[in-house]
Amino acid sequence: LAAATAASLALSANAYAADDCNDGEIVIKFSHVVAATGHPKGDAATLLAERVNDEMNGKACMQVFPNSQLFDDDKVMEALLLGDVQLAAPSLSKFEAYTLKFRLFDLPFLFQDLDAVERFTTGENGKELLNSMTDYGFQGLGYWSSGLKQFSANKPLLVPDDAKGLKFRVQTSDVAVAMIEAMGANAQKLAFKEVYGALQTGVVDGQENSWSNIYTQKFFEVQDGITETNHQLLAYLLVTSDEWLDSLDPEVRDQFLTIVEEVTATANGNVAAAEAKNRQNVLDAGSTIRELTPEQRKAWVGAMKPVWDKFEGDIGKDLIDSAVASNN
Ligand code: LMR
Repeated sequence: LAAATAASLALSANAYAADDCNDGEIVIKFSHVVAATGHPKGDAATLLAERVNDEMNGKACMQVFPNSQLFDDDKVMEALLLGDVQLAAPSLSKFEAYTLKFRLFDLPFLFQDLDAVERFTTGENGKELLNSMTDYGFQGLGYWSSGLKQFSANKPLLVPDDAKGLKFRVQTSDVAVAMIEAMGANAQKLAFKEVYGALQTGVVDGQENSWSNIYTQKFFEVQDGITETNHQLLAYLLVTSDEWLDSLDPEVRDQFLTIVEEVTATANGNVAAAEAKNRQNVLDAGSTIRELTPEQRKAWVGAMKPVWDKFEGDIGKDLIDSAVASNN
């Protein structure tokens, strides 16, 4: 009861959401950790809420809680099962407690660009992976891309050796830890909302993230510069609980899932432009962006290749091969 009361207090304290729900409407609460606007996930969540609130008015009502104001990614999965929220979209790196298959998406230099990601996630294997966590009561509704990751640190990074001995914040992903260790550096898992402070106070020396996160969280302010490594995918799983989904009337569920599918396609189509814009925003803010020569890039790819072998058993070689094939 205490937990439920705390959660409902938190909900009312954060009830900034655009749409006031009416009696009889199904309330769909969506909690995420990034900026509300100017970010692929923040904008996709807003678009989803706008469409649900417009097209399902009287039947359903959606509220979005951005910026980790409601739950961190490690707590939000539990909140889905408890019914405190109905939607979340943690990055694919954050599901290790429920499935090891998503380690695929963290393999360094797996996808050459976002088009390859789109081909894989909309293909047969990608769709199948949406069902990887049904044993735990979770249903994946779609993949929301967010761009490729770049490294930043408190000193210039041009080759992996430059990172030797530094400490990098990583998401809660053992693949990320292995990748950082392959560079001769140290990894520390931290919640997203703690990253700026950890960089600022020197708890960690560097981090890796998309242009949109680097800009909207202002990580560039407390780093020497950003190295354009494009070394790993940042993408999210839009996820709900089976129990909630099953509780909906079939007609309502179909309408909701159709909106989700359309918003997913629109959002993924907008990512490349949003990322380019935030890359430019980082430059305009006076930060330094270091581009790699082909030789330097080769050194990063080579240093990280051993990570693939380490996780092949968890992921399965066939799945890795099919993701690689999406590059063509
Ligand atoms: C991170 O923790 O760095 C990201 O997963 C945050 C996000 O959701 O983009």
